[in-house]
Amino acid sequence: MGISRTTTEKVKERADIEEVVNDYVPLKKKGQNLWACCPFHNEKSPSFSVSPAKQIYKCFGCGKAGDPIQFVMDIEGVGFNEAIRHLAKKYAIEIEEDKEQTPEAIQAYNERESLYIVLNYAKDFFAKNLQKEEGKAIGLSYFKERGFNQDVIEKFDLGYALDGWNHFYDAAKGDGHTDEILLKAGLILQKEGDVQRLYDRFRGRVIFTIHNLGGKPIGFGARILTQDKKQPKYINSPETEVYHKSDVLYGIFQAKKSIREKDNCYLVEGYTDVISMHLAGIENVVASSGTSLTESQIKLVKRFSDNITVLYDGDAAGIKASLRGIDMILEGGLNVKAVVFPNGEDPDSYARKVGAQEFQDYLENNSQDFISFKIGLHEEEAANDPIKQAALIKEVVQSLSKIPDPIIRTVYIKKSSSLLGLDEEIIQTELNKIYLKGRKDDFFKEKREIQETPFEELLPVKEESSIVDILQLQEREMLRLLVNYGFELVSDDLHVCHYLLQETDELEFETPVYQKILEIYKEALANNHLPQPEYFLKHDDSEVKKEVINLITRKYELSTLWESRFQIFTHNEADDLAKTVYDSILHLKKKVIKKMMEEAKVKIKEAEQEKMDENIMNERISIYMELKQYQVEIDKQLGIVISF
Ligand code: CTP
Ligand code: MN
Repeated sequence: MGISRTTTEKVKERADIEEVVNDYVPLKKKGQNLWACCPFHNEKSPSFSVSPAKQIYKCFGCGKAGDPIQFVMDIEGVGFNEAIRHLAKKYAIEIEEDKEQTPEAIQAYNERESLYIVLNYAKDFFAKNLQKEEGKAIGLSYFKERGFNQDVIEKFDLGYALDGWNHFYDAAKGDGHTDEILLKAGLILQKEGDVQRLYDRFRGRVIFTIHNLGGKPIGFGARILTQDKKQPKYINSPETEVYHKSDVLYGIFQAKKSIREKDNCYLVEGYTDVISMHLAGIENVVASSGTSLTESQIKLVKRFSDNITVLYDGDAAGIKASLRGIDMILEGGLNVKAVVFPNGEDPDSYARKVGAQEFQDYLENNSQDFISFKIGLHEEEAANDPIKQAALIKEVVQSLSKIPDPIIRTVYIKKSSSLLGLDEEIIQTELNKIYLKGRKDDFFKEKREIQETPFEELLPVKEESSIVDILQLQEREMLRLLVNYGFELVSDDLHVCHYLLQETDELEFETPVYQKILEIYKEALANNHLPQPEYFLKHDDSEVKKEVINLITRKYELSTLWESRFQIFTHNEADDLAKTVYDSILHLKKKVIKKMMEEAKVKIKEAEQEKMDENIMNERISIYMELKQYQVEIDKQLGIVISF
């Protein structure tokens, strides 16, 4: 349920960045700020800073930044509401729930709360069974046989469901839990044809408790102990109000801290793989629980690290069936590696076989990036078969096309080119085919105009990344001036902001968050407010806040770059704001025009290739020439002499 506005305000007012961060990492004072080794990435010397004056934190190493609430969200991996609850607890602020909620929302909230309570009760019940005679003899001895010690039994809330129809049901009923909630939690079932008869879902099996990110039990997996082929090996909780299988990763609660520290997440198949790896000293591991990976599971990992290493059992058929997972991870913007175990071994069996140290070494020495992994899988069969070879190339290019970051993509294109012995250009051509096809498919499917953006993807990668990146840099530079100096005067009666905004009136920023900040700025002006940098730090949107912190803390970075690279600013920017701002606008315009020229060039090529009408061709060329003219003009004003 929502938290009331007043509670949120109280927390925001009370939460102190220094106190909040100090709960996690010890801070040392140096100058105006406090410093520590960053809790979000591995480092030896401190680049994580806290500014008590601005009430923000910022890491100059990994770029994480924000206010106290953002810090809790980042470090605990929770959402806004959870972070508020966390801070309210720390400062003993009473939480007032949002009264604006509809009765339905309140009921849903109450129902979820009851589910958590009964699931927690069940977890305790199953755990205690391990101490009873039957549980000890069957459940506990099974775990011991697998090498599970008391530590992991407690850490993972392992348990045992007694053999019988209603041990659990009777106990739960006796302790006041209602049939309705027990059914909704998926803990009991109704007899077919006699719905009044209720019985336990889990019977005579060992129990693996499934936790959510915050550590609350939300479901169970129950493993059979015999070799009975007629019964399923695992019986799992059904989907419930609190257990959405596609959003959950087994072990994420126990792994999250380590995933962040190691900046990598191992992905395995089963409950037992996760636990055996913990026993082998590896805690950054989660399981997809036998189903194929989903987008929201990938997002869940991404909250803690951008790196996933998929661990595959050593059987080729199984691997090929699960390759889709790799493309999905790439699509999510994460880096993927893979480790294949020797034939017949899975992480659980292999860890037990070779022991902790050798297992860790194996992971280190056998992790491959996804390109080498994919090529290795098909290499043998493709060696003497040109058709299979072509299929392999397509397979690799397919994966490459999923990588959203152009710079990372370029790196992998190079790598594939050398591994496959193919020219980069050929790979790029294949990639372009996929992008083009994607655009056509979109076009026909949705019957709308081809979007403008994917065009960059058609350009050679090198050029694309540089133009778009520089444009982005330039947009940022303009905003940096706006946020830092907007309220200052360029001349007697003109503020920097009015000058900047007037000059860039017709420009749309390419970067959505920059556009957002620009709009917030304009809105403030429309309300007769001339915002100081701190104005944006109060904004609710964490993306905006983070970006503004970047803009404020990197005050001089770009101009220094310019000075050294292009010898443009040879003065202190704040001394001559008028010139700084004027140049910045020209630079921005220059980049926009450069981009438009590239677009125009593509259009001309297209007209040429498709032998379009001469009039169209001429028109496109004249657009290009006009842009060129404009470019020369700007260069002149900037004092850059260019040669044709
Ligand atoms: N699974 C399932 N239902 C089944 C079989 C498997 O839900 N009938 C899921 C479980 O989450 C299981 C995972 O798929 O953990 C992997 O299956 P498997 O390798 O067969 O099980 P393990 O957990 O590895 O168990 P064990 O090592 O005891 O074979
Ligand atoms: Mn297994």
